[in-house]
Amino acid sequence: MRMYDIIEKKKHGEELCRDEIYEMIRLYTEGSIPDYQMSALMMAIYFRGMSATETSFLTDAMATSGDTVDLSALGDRTVDKHSTGGVGDKTTLVVAPIVAAAGGTVAKMSGRGLGHTGGTVDKLESFPGFRTSLSPEEFSDQVKKCGLAVIGQSKDLAPADKKLYALRDVTATVDSIPLIASSIMSKKLAAGTRSIVLDVKCGLGAFMNTPEKARALAEAMVGIGKSRGRQTAAIISNMDIPLGRAVGNSLEVCEAIDVLQGGGPDDLREVALTLASLMLELSLKLDGDEARALALDTLESGRAFEKFCTWIELQGGDASYARDRSKFGKAKYTRELSAEKDGYLASCNAERIGIAAMKLGAGRETKESVIDPRAGIIILKKPGDKVRAGEPVALLMTDTEDKLDGALATAAEAIEISDTPVTDTTLIYEIIR
Ligand code: URA
Repeated sequence: MRMYDIIEKKKHGEELCRDEIYEMIRLYTEGSIPDYQMSALMMAIYFRGMSATETSFLTDAMATSGDTVDLSALGDRTVDKHSTGGVGDKTTLVVAPIVAAAGGTVAKMSGRGLGHTGGTVDKLESFPGFRTSLSPEEFSDQVKKCGLAVIGQSKDLAPADKKLYALRDVTATVDSIPLIASSIMSKKLAAGTRSIVLDVKCGLGAFMNTPEKARALAEAMVGIGKSRGRQTAAIISNMDIPLGRAVGNSLEVCEAIDVLQGGGPDDLREVALTLASLMLELSLKLDGDEARALALDTLESGRAFEKFCTWIELQGGDASYARDRSKFGKAKYTRELSAEKDGYLASCNAERIGIAAMKLGAGRETKESVIDPRAGIIILKKPGDKVRAGEPVALLMTDTEDKLDGALATAAEAIEISDTPVTDTTLIYEIIR
């Protein structure tokens, strides 16, 4: 196989065959294909696309490029959930205990924050002592005991994707549907669950900025999952604005606990219930209405909150923080972002809010940055709300005072105020089964 010929073929829009794709991924992972040739191929794929068959081969080649997790000993109820990345997206913290308390088996690997988006692993580390790195035996024991474990991504899982993603990141080839779909699904397939539920984010704070593009990505991923024998479904949810009101690690944990205790913002509760229902539908083989009723009952009875506390404790975290949220403490410095004029909040741009939270210390500006768990933003006004000039629309929090000015300027760019109320508040665009 000559890499030159593969690039040439894709440049002319021809379909790559199975052997070419597997061989190319094998050689690239072992370092025998240089980055400049792989970059050229990624750009050719960006412009020419890939058929469903090619995308499925690429996914499988990456999924089997390193370790794969065998969860067969945990039965056939294992289920994973993946979000394509959002701001204020703490749904895993709500969904995972609901599903586990209702009888599903959640054995999950999660990521850290990336760019302006947050990551579940960073959020969980707000609990003192919580261990996001478990040995395979500890992971499996914990899932057997509690029906739920969430750990960080193993570095040996889908190493081809790790290399390719880093390359795509610096060659402007991330936003290609076959490349995103194969990247995400390679990790999900390698992680070994029988069922997979995907939350494809759509809007200003997401990779996909229209429902049409988000649907194409969702359909590609559901198609890949099914072609590999996994029960797979997806929702497409709004990421024009942050989900819920809290953005930042311990702030988001507290908001997730609010939902688990029967309160919390309506949008977060609804997205979490929709995802939990789909996970129960697939893993327990229920119909949609039965799954929704079970998810709701598990949440409202408090069983999900009790499961959450057990989970945190078993993974070494101090669950007394969940029962007394004041223990997380407050950041030293708070600054208000105020409305510039009277009117209605028209926009609260998720990407800008995510970047502002990162600048406050909630995310990493460089690989070396250390997360400040208490830093972040509380959104006081959401689109549609009436505001008066000078009234606070958000609170910015950090332990480092000199981060406030830059973050405030970025957060201010997120806010638009109009004279008339906005009406489009679609939360979930579609469910793809
Ligand atoms: N997340 C991934 O894991 N891969 C992509 O390509 C995009 C988002």
